[in-house]
Amino acid sequence: MQRLALIGFMASGKSTVGELVAAKLDVPFVDLDRYIEARAGMTIPEIFATLGEQRFRVMETEALGDIGRDMKCVVLATGGGAVIHPSNRDLLKASFTTVYLRAAPETILSRLKQDAAQRPLLQTDNPAQRVRTLLKQRQTWYEDAASWIVDVDHGTVEEIAQFVI
Ligand code: S3P
Repeated sequence: MQRLALIGFMASGKSTVGELVAAKLDVPFVDLDRYIEARAGMTIPEIFATLGEQRFRVMETEALGDIGRDMKCVVLATGGGAVIHPSNRDLLKASFTTVYLRAAPETILSRLKQDAAQRPLLQTDNPAQRVRTLLKQRQTWYEDAASWIVDVDHGTVEEIAQFVI
């Protein structure tokens, strides 16, 4: 086991599944958003509000590069937008085994109902429409960066983690 990265849209379960996979494999777990927050001394919503999305994307690319370079063995939960930049997709493919946790829009929308307020990209009049648009835009990028695809519309966290392993 070397570096495993979970990719996929917001609320697809990357962090929850990733943490369990890491525990089962007894390897370190890193959540890319938490890593960025710790480095910046700000939460993700604060980074978006004060520095803007573009600056966040630069921080995300830097963090991904650091982990790909410095950690020999890790389970990494990426942020939903980590596949936007082609260079990030190249880095993910070169340095990690990647698993795309693929969720249908309905699954994502029902999960996001609880915590859309924490997601800077969903602060619009119509978050559901925004989810559908972003998902459509990103689908091929997730597929392009994926070594494996796991559908996550059904099954418990335990079952999905086992399947990933
Ligand atoms: C984002 C997803 C978030 C976080 C940021 C941007 C995105 O991570 O990185 O709000 O562009 O989809 P999660 O996928 O962990 O929610």
